[in-house]
Amino acid sequence: MVVEVKNLSKSFGNHIVLDNISLKISEGENFVIFGRSGTGKSVLLKCIVRLLLPDSGEIFIDGQNILNLSEKELNKIRKYIGFVFQSSALYDSMTVKENLEFPLIRNFEFTAEERENKIRSVLEKVDLAGAINKMPAELSGGMKKRIGLARSIITEPKLILYDEPTTGLDPITTKEISHLIVELQKDLNVTAIVVTHDLVCAHIVANHAIVLKDGKIRYEGALGKLTSTDDEFLNDFFDNEYFEDKNGRK
Ligand SMILES: Nc1ncnc2c1ncn2[C@@H]1O[C@H](COP(=O)(O)OP(=O)(O)OP(=O)(O)O)[C@@H](O)[C@H]1O
Ligand SMILES: [Mg+2]
Repeated sequence: MVVEVKNLSKSFGNHIVLDNISLKISEGENFVIFGRSGTGKSVLLKCIVRLLLPDSGEIFIDGQNILNLSEKELNKIRKYIGFVFQSSALYDSMTVKENLEFPLIRNFEFTAEERENKIRSVLEKVDLAGAINKMPAELSGGMKKRIGLARSIITEPKLILYDEPTTGLDPITTKEISHLIVELQKDLNVTAIVVTHDLVCAHIVANHAIVLKDGKIRYEGALGKLTSTDDEFLNDFFDNEYFEDKNGRK
């Protein structure tokens, strides 16, 4: 899916969070969004799928302005969109299996056997096959995160929005999840928007990156370009000087 955002603005009261943002994400791209805490990354993702309504601007998904669609028309598009929430947003009263089954039952007409196969396959992908009958309360934070991710990819979406998919995960799981994002892109030509603070994840997945600052896109380009500049903010943000020191290059 192709995503195009034009002149998007969003405020809460008199607090301007997004200030005239425009961006275009091509099909099959892994588009990474950076920015300090509170700069509006999650708000931007939520606007893109109309979980939040912007104050002004336009959002096109595969050429359709989703702000003009009825709920019914929007739901048709949402069927092909996965959203990995920053908090895993699992249903506490449902088992892992029921949580994963939920989007399959709500939006599709699979048989029980097809659903079971999909659940097992997606749990293997996130390395949690043994957790199928557990309740969310029995899982660690990282496990919940991976189940949240499994739930978002189980319907084989064409666009996935990942809100900090690796935050709080150990370094090895971080790499596995990041490679999974790349795998989905390569195998299924999924378009991905990835909000992350995690440079390991970004280095594995990013085709293109932007940095939000004060409501605007202040930097844009390949990750390598953003992490090797003389810009003071970017050097601070990506800890470039720290890494250079460590490598003895400064
Ligand atoms: N529903 C809301 N009502 C009022 N203010 C909100 C709402 N949602 C977000 N905000 C405000 O918008 C700003 C951006 O929030 P957002 O959650 O997008 O930040 P973020 O960049 O995702 O930060 P983090 O890296 O900590 O997740 C914050 O100041 C936040 O308080
Ligand atoms: Mg956020």
